[in-house]
Amino acid sequence: MSARIRKAVFPVAGLGTRFLPATKTVPKEMLPIIDRPLIQYAVDEAIEAGCDTLVFVTNRYKHAVADYFDKAYELEQKLERSGKTEQLELVRNVLPEGVRAVFVTQAEALGLGHAVLCAKSVIGDEPFAVLLPDDLIWNRGPGALKQMADAAEASGASMIAVQDVPREQTASYGIVATENFEKRQGRIRAIVEKPKPEVAPSNLAVVGRYVLNPRIFSLLESTTPGAGGEIQLTDAIAALLEEEAVNAYRFQGTRFDCGTHIGLVEATIRYALDHEKLSDSARQLMANALSELGVEELN
Ligand code: G1P
Repeated sequence: MSARIRKAVFPVAGLGTRFLPATKTVPKEMLPIIDRPLIQYAVDEAIEAGCDTLVFVTNRYKHAVADYFDKAYELEQKLERSGKTEQLELVRNVLPEGVRAVFVTQAEALGLGHAVLCAKSVIGDEPFAVLLPDDLIWNRGPGALKQMADAAEASGASMIAVQDVPREQTASYGIVATENFEKRQGRIRAIVEKPKPEVAPSNLAVVGRYVLNPRIFSLLESTTPGAGGEIQLTDAIAALLEEEAVNAYRFQGTRFDCGTHIGLVEATIRYALDHEKLSDSARQLMANALSELGVEELN
């Protein structure tokens, strides 16, 4: 594999039960950080990395994701007529020209590995990316996927994003054991899905960005249910690294786990503090809120 990735898979078929009741009608990928839904951040990262074909693996209840990426004729006409060019640009740029969205349905929620396998016919025989929109990665320089795509193109190896987590959290992640790192990359020797801290091979956790060789599809086809009774992408990656190099990649950037309440709050705070127009008032509001709470606590 030393071709450039052009296609990206977004598994978005999850039920998002952690965010009920909001997710009763709004898919969790549509929850906003400021004014853009989570899925938009992941899509922009994929486009920046060079992808022009975006494959959304969705379920039959998630029309909102498809609607979001569809052209909104009436809205565009209204904005155009009323001269709201800035907003018009925002709406149009949800998907820039030349980028196509493909929707694939995952009929049953059988796990992340199964979701990725659903994209097989669209991906074909070329390296591709997988992005989990829950993992929002903020970086001033190139996005995490761009960093990984460049590294994958140069080395020819599949690439899995990783970061250190506290040992007590290993059961929430795929965990890798690697050889020594050279710069940001280390060859993966073992990968396990959600091991308990006492059996985890390290505290180096998989973050939701992958650049994968298409060989993964045939391995997924023979992957049986693993952790949580689900067909795990991690298990197919474990089979892949028996055959060829799969590297862990320590990306540059800050990752927010927007699959949790606090992660979503943290991301919102960080993006507000870094926002061109909101930064000053966000700082002020936060200082006020903290001091008000402090005063109450003293009383
Ligand atoms: C998935 C993967 C896991 C990875 C995590 C990153 O788990 O299965 O290996 O560490 O994403 O966010 P999930 O969070 O979907 O349970």
